Amino acid sequence: MSTDLRGTDPSAVPGVRERAVEPDWWRGAAIYQVYPRSFADANGDGTGDLAGVRAHLPYLAELGVDAIWFTPWYPSPMADGGYDVADYRAIDPLFGDLAEAEGLIGDALAHGIRTIIDVVPNHVSDQHAWFRAALAAGPGSPERDRFWFRDGAGSGGELPPNGWESEFGGTAWSRVVGPDGPEQWYLHLFAPGQPDLNWGHPDVVREHEEILRFWFDRGVAGIRIDSAALLAKDAMLPEVDPDHDPGEHPYVDREELQGIYRGWRRIAETYGPDRVLIGEIWLPDAERFARYLRPGVLHSAFNFDFMASPWDAAALGRSIRQTLEVHDRVGAPATWVLSNHDVTRPVTRYGREDTAFAFESKRFGTPTDLALGTRRARAAALLAMALPGAFYLYQGEELGLPEADIPVDRIDDPMHARSGGVDPGRDGCRVPFPWSGSTPPYGFSDVPVESWLPQPEDWAGRTAEEQADDPGSMLTLYRAALGLRHQLPELGDGALTWLDLGPEVIAFRRGDFVHVTNLSGGPIDLPSPAQTWLASVPVEGGRLPADASAWLQLTG
Ligand code: NOJ
Repeated sequence: MSTDLRGTDPSAVPGVRERAVEPDWWRGAAIYQVYPRSFADANGDGTGDLAGVRAHLPYLAELGVDAIWFTPWYPSPMADGGYDVADYRAIDPLFGDLAEAEGLIGDALAHGIRTIIDVVPNHVSDQHAWFRAALAAGPGSPERDRFWFRDGAGSGGELPPNGWESEFGGTAWSRVVGPDGPEQWYLHLFAPGQPDLNWGHPDVVREHEEILRFWFDRGVAGIRIDSAALLAKDAMLPEVDPDHDPGEHPYVDREELQGIYRGWRRIAETYGPDRVLIGEIWLPDAERFARYLRPGVLHSAFNFDFMASPWDAAALGRSIRQTLEVHDRVGAPATWVLSNHDVTRPVTRYGREDTAFAFESKRFGTPTDLALGTRRARAAALLAMALPGAFYLYQGEELGLPEADIPVDRIDDPMHARSGGVDPGRDGCRVPFPWSGSTPPYGFSDVPVESWLPQPEDWAGRTAEEQADDPGSMLTLYRAALGLRHQLPELGDGALTWLDLGPEVIAFRRGDFVHVTNLSGGPIDLPSPAQTWLASVPVEGGRLPADASAWLQLTG
């Protein structure tokens, strides 16, 4: 079923009228992240595509999600998994074409699912027309002003212009080799194939406003903004002072960003109150983070503090309280995230000795107890889905997929090479989705083709098909919990009241709904009288075992 929605009011799509006209849908939504390269391969080339996503929309509707966020689907040399965009108004031929994307947006809406796309404003691909023009035009040209080209330091310009480091390791500068030899350097906070844009340039501002309109015109409900706190730079390019004042870092969290996003918000609002801007903002300071969510700036942002917290009652409790407090102050809903395409899968992370997540500590061969990790990930999922606000889940999280070990010669992620081979990179969570069957490609492709990243040989028991009718599976837990989020008015957006069940227990009420997570070493008594909606492990005799969560309805 395909619906062409260009220029159409989404509320006119049959069957989605109620959801489509709801301006605040995003405040309590469950949003599913699709990594198109690894979701479903319809054309049998070993890489996922948009036709594959269209074919699996019934799965997502049955799962109970309100929206899909697609990681970048644009033409890209894939120097950083598509976060190196060559053209923001087209689709990579690996994935399909613009007509396929429009069809997908319409089909998803017909299933009651909105579409959120990823816009990457900090940098472009080195194959983007602007960057190619800048290289061709040479030093001092207006084309180069859209980027950060500088002469090198050292007597012959042989050293980078400053000491800024790439987020992927090493210097953040690469030197251009022109027809007459080495010349200027350009800035890339990520890989060399991702030159940073100069947001002080009016062309850059205008171009992005047009990109937003381009996609809003095609019916997308929201924009996920990549690396949202990095766009603005101090044009003097000073060295980073580790003791800088808030907002004074040369390229992180600068004040100019607030104005940029206020401009984006004005554009989103011309399309209606149900179009949303979601920032990818990694900032250690919760107060600074919340400034992006003030009225008139962004609608929402990913809560990485919660995601990175260790499996520990004090740490999780502190993170939740702080999150709710700072969001309340600016009137924005919180978001709850357990995984995405950049971080170690929860069932692996929670089974390790160090259950926190940090980019700098990822190493090959870190031991994990997958049974324990899975038990905790189930408990964490119910916690995240019970808290007030929106919930984000990343494809495969609902199957409890572990982080896969990728043979070193198949690793694609630049983080691995740029770390000198020390960091395994992020491919372990990007493995093609196992749909069915007992051997690779597990229904990811319909033909026996090798997928772009290898799938583990032991995933037969983890496929969606295998889990669908298993009452004890992760998929069944996610379906039940997401279903209850729709059914129970207490869940989603709103407030909570804390319950004190001891220092190792996270418990709260939302009306007569009660959530309990037990992080103590032993079983605890659940509040009573109550009926159990759902629990991450079997609950007997009103006692909740360790590393488990339960959803209850007070009956007394
Ligand atoms: C954040 C994205 O999530 C990540 O995958 C990417 O490498 C960087 N931004 C750079 O675009």
